[in-house]
Amino acid sequence: MPFKASLCFLIRMSKKVYIETYGCQMNAADSEVVGGILTADGYDFTREIAEADVVLVNTCAIRDNAEQRIYGRLGLFQRYKRTRPDLVVGILGCMAERLRTRLVDQERLVDLVVGPDEYRKLPGLLDNAFSGSKGVAVRLSRVENYEDIVPLRMDGISAWLSVMRGCDKFCTFCVVPFTRGRERSRSLRSVVEEVAMLLDRGFREVTLLGQNVNSYRDGSYDFADLMRGVASVDRRLRVRFMTSHPQDMSEKLIDTIASCENICKYIHLPVQSGSDRILGMMNRTYTVDHYLRLVERIRSTMPGVSLSTDIISGFPTETAKDHRATIGLLKQVRYDGAYTFKYSPRENTKAWELRDDVPDGEKGRRVNEVTTLQHEISLELNSMMIGTTERILVEGPSRKDEREWTGRTDTNKTVIFLRSEQKSGDYIDVIIERANSATLFGRSLAGQTAHSVRHAEVPQ
Ligand code: 5AD
Ligand code: SF4
Repeated sequence: MPFKASLCFLIRMSKKVYIETYGCQMNAADSEVVGGILTADGYDFTREIAEADVVLVNTCAIRDNAEQRIYGRLGLFQRYKRTRPDLVVGILGCMAERLRTRLVDQERLVDLVVGPDEYRKLPGLLDNAFSGSKGVAVRLSRVENYEDIVPLRMDGISAWLSVMRGCDKFCTFCVVPFTRGRERSRSLRSVVEEVAMLLDRGFREVTLLGQNVNSYRDGSYDFADLMRGVASVDRRLRVRFMTSHPQDMSEKLIDTIASCENICKYIHLPVQSGSDRILGMMNRTYTVDHYLRLVERIRSTMPGVSLSTDIISGFPTETAKDHRATIGLLKQVRYDGAYTFKYSPRENTKAWELRDDVPDGEKGRRVNEVTTLQHEISLELNSMMIGTTERILVEGPSRKDEREWTGRTDTNKTVIFLRSEQKSGDYIDVIIERANSATLFGRSLAGQTAHSVRHAEVPQ
């Protein structure tokens, strides 16, 4: 290392970074990439704001309430800055491009604004920030995929791994194509290598992430090939993925999930609405009928598969009839879970030009109705599991009680059980004794600890 570079490295060694992450799992994975870039540059990470020289906020712009929360936090960091003027505060991620002028120039709330494709510039921008200059880097890239960066991950059982970035779908409500740019994929080889490394470190589950994983491409390889490649790294490893766009969910992918034992039988398949008219206005490119046929195909190929969805209530012009169609769809599909949102107009999107004409109170009522119905359905489905034996991957102590541990079923249901000799990363069989709409409660079948995924024998 040349003298000047090594000196910079030594100076940075004493600097500590605190990072706070909002939004989706892609953002969580991005924060780990940022961690990888900054540790390679000599920074340490801390969980205590009070110890930090740098505070980074990885932001989410998907709905207005996410942004408002982040503004609240920035206000707090500003107060810190008053007592510690040398503290550097930076905004990362999806709010960066949209709000750079407001954040840096007008309100002078932050020192740095760095968009999702510019994290490699962070070390240089931080150096500048320490000497007092504000920095902005918000350009989106057609190629950046960070595949050569080793993300900074805490040891654990489950890892997120982003395999593609951006989205070309342009659903009319969604800001993602504007904040994260065009679709691009990592190479299959780089993903498989990272997964093998994670397995060596003790991870037992990976979730392959992308805004629309079905668009994954590496030359002639598609997402099904990638899933098969990852699944064949080791049968002890569980493989999950999200998110799928119903338009692009191929037969080949369904068959691959069905045929690989360690690919989990759980699919998040956002439908957004049960009304064809609203789906058309959302540019979702499928009809309810097409979606239902897809669900049917998935279920006939994989009996017992678990499905979840996203629903937006109160999209412009949504009538009581459209809303009832969504309720009807939920009753028909009977998802295991649903994430429900009030429509939130986002600048730049197509729908931004439409009048946000469903009053907020009415949006709230519709979301509540969807959520309440989904809770009932989830409770019914979970209750049907009482008395059955499930193989779970043990994750660790539950948040409430040290003696109670949690794990998840293949179908992504959380199970709480009383720990005896189990360790994180074990596969164990539990008998389900109780259930609510979100969680199963089970008893470990003592002495029957299983070592491999589901009912397969351990390969020698
Ligand atoms: N308003 C409300 N919900 C939204 N989502 C995306 N954009 C919006 C918006 N403008 C929801 C969709 C998507 C999930 C990640 O967030 O349901 O699937
Ligand atoms: Fe947004 Fe649609 Fe892309 Fe999902 S598929 S990220 S909802 S534009």
